[in-house]
Amino acid sequence: ETDDRVSRISSTIRVIPDFPKPGILFQDITTLLLDPKAFKDTIDLFVERYRDKNINVVAGIEARGFIFGPPIALAIGAKFVPMRKPKKLPGEVISEEYSLEYGTDTMEMHVGAVQPGERAVVVDDLIATGGTLNAAIRLLERVGVQVVECACVIELPELKGRDRLGNKPLFVLVSST
Ligand code: PRP
Repeated sequence: ETDDRVSRISSTIRVIPDFPKPGILFQDITTLLLDPKAFKDTIDLFVERYRDKNINVVAGIEARGFIFGPPIALAIGAKFVPMRKPKKLPGEVISEEYSLEYGTDTMEMHVGAVQPGERAVVVDDLIATGGTLNAAIRLLERVGVQVVECACVIELPELKGRDRLGNKPLFVLVSST
């Protein structure tokens, strides 16, 4: 039954070649969102995994972690914390840099959003190189939060992003080659 749900989810994800650049096969989750059953199944599979694990924090990564994270947080009774691109959050922030194909980017989180000892799941739509999730883990651990697991809808296993998460477990619904 989980497999049926996963196959349906997988079939709704649209793959667009050469976006945003030549040679990239873009995994487009907007078509998953157009299928209410697939979207609900996606959220349910994460909720079933995390509801009895004493999770206090769902940390969602801009931008598509803001789509999947909040319904999971509401369903498991956790707070939702946005992990944002630079200069978007209005309050005091802490930040971590991470590397992109060319150059670096920065991820920011509000000071005071999380407390030492809280238990977090980090949510995003996709893991490619793992650099983004790695920065999110560093941000949360710097303030004493325990990152229990990272959760993504899609993994691109060929890019070996898991290897950049250290010993952190990664839970994904769909692997894409
Ligand atoms: C994509 C994706 C992840 C990240 C994964 O975001 O949604 O957040 O890349 O890549 P990585 O594992 O190699 O770090 P994108 O950079 O497209 O930013 P956006 O969500 O703001 O469009």
